[in-house]
Amino acid sequence: MDDTKYINFDLLEKFMEDVFVKLGAPEDEAKIIADVLISSDKLGIDSHGIGRFKPIYVDRINSGILNPVTDTEIVKESYTTAILDANDGMGHVAGKRAMEIAIEKAKVYGMGMVTVKNSSHYGFAGYYPLMASKAGMIGITGTNARPSIAPTFGVENMLGTNPLTFAIPTDEEFDFLLDCATSTSQRGKIEKYEREGKMLPEGWVIDDEGNVRTDTEQVLIDLTKGKAALTPLGGVGEELAGYKGYGYATVVEILSSALHLGPFMKTLTDVDENGNKKPYKLGHFFIAINIENFVEIEKFRKQTGDILRELRSSRKAPGYDRIYTAGEKEYLTYQYRKDKGVPMNEVLLKQINELNDKYQLGYKF
Ligand SMILES: NC(=O)c1ccc[n+]([C@@H]2O[C@H](COP(=O)([O-])OP(=O)(O)OC[C@H]3O[C@@H](n4cnc5c(N)ncnc54)[C@H](O)[C@@H]3O)[C@@H](O)[C@H]2O)c1
Repeated sequence: MDDTKYINFDLLEKFMEDVFVKLGAPEDEAKIIADVLISSDKLGIDSHGIGRFKPIYVDRINSGILNPVTDTEIVKESYTTAILDANDGMGHVAGKRAMEIAIEKAKVYGMGMVTVKNSSHYGFAGYYPLMASKAGMIGITGTNARPSIAPTFGVENMLGTNPLTFAIPTDEEFDFLLDCATSTSQRGKIEKYEREGKMLPEGWVIDDEGNVRTDTEQVLIDLTKGKAALTPLGGVGEELAGYKGYGYATVVEILSSALHLGPFMKTLTDVDENGNKKPYKLGHFFIAINIENFVEIEKFRKQTGDILRELRSSRKAPGYDRIYTAGEKEYLTYQYRKDKGVPMNEVLLKQINELNDKYQLGYKF
């Protein structure tokens, strides 16, 4: 029998919002952070929703390396570009603001690109390009992150899991959404395996001798110590073209840092050279492309939809009766979860119940 407990979207969202307010976030900003997190859970991206709420946000705010108040400031601007300083605040608030600016610019000039500096973990990357696709535009984003990926032929964790994410409007009920890391897997998924007490699949992680690692709990510790590294998308070595993932991760690192000359790779940790705690100071980029500046949006939607439908109806491999296109599984998960809620395992329930007690919020989970 399935005894998984499900919590209603609105209830969980309001709970997260209330905790962020208790931690000092202004109400409107707490709403944005909670919306990004619950949107991830709604779409089934469990590695980046409630699962990250305590360890990545609550704990970091409490440890003093993350400011719950996000004072964004445009430090350089042109008709089509801007640099936004997030002042060590919440990546979600800065990210939403940056994509709003990019969309406003694209409405007038056809394209907008905004980079963000001095930011923090912005959650699931898909949230921001989806803002553009909902506005009839193509949305693109990327972010750097603490060092995790070893370059092809290397064993040292150098690059972040650096997602490169696209959302594109179609004539279907869901947008095309390609939202993934440039590593084979990413830390959020490894944390999920840990919560579920499972070993890692082979090929996700190597140690500093290049050996495959599957011991989930120790891998999470060794990743932070630089004794293990994630493989780039494509895997170890050249045979399965891991250098492509390595190359894309590098592109994201450059676009997330060099356009505002911000910190990169090894310096993106929470400890400074003297061993003191410090903010991560991540960088992100956001691009909005106004389709109407190229072709009529309805014709574009139809053609995009045709491409996706043709892919899905192409011949299936033996043993498979369905081909998916990016964003489809997330849409299907949303359809399933919208009445049921977010599945919670024991570890997550314990975490939220403890926070509920600590901040005397009176929720009943
Ligand atoms: N903020 C950060 O620092 C950070 C870093 C890394 C990843 N992330 C986030 O983690 C999340 C998960 O990343 P991931 O690398 O584990 O993604 P993943 O490997 O789960 O891939 C997800 C993508 O692949 C598509 N997909 C899945 N199965 C498919 C199939 N059979 N056919 C076609 N498309 C398919 C999905 O629609 C989605 O676009 C993303 O939301 C990403 O933004 C964030």
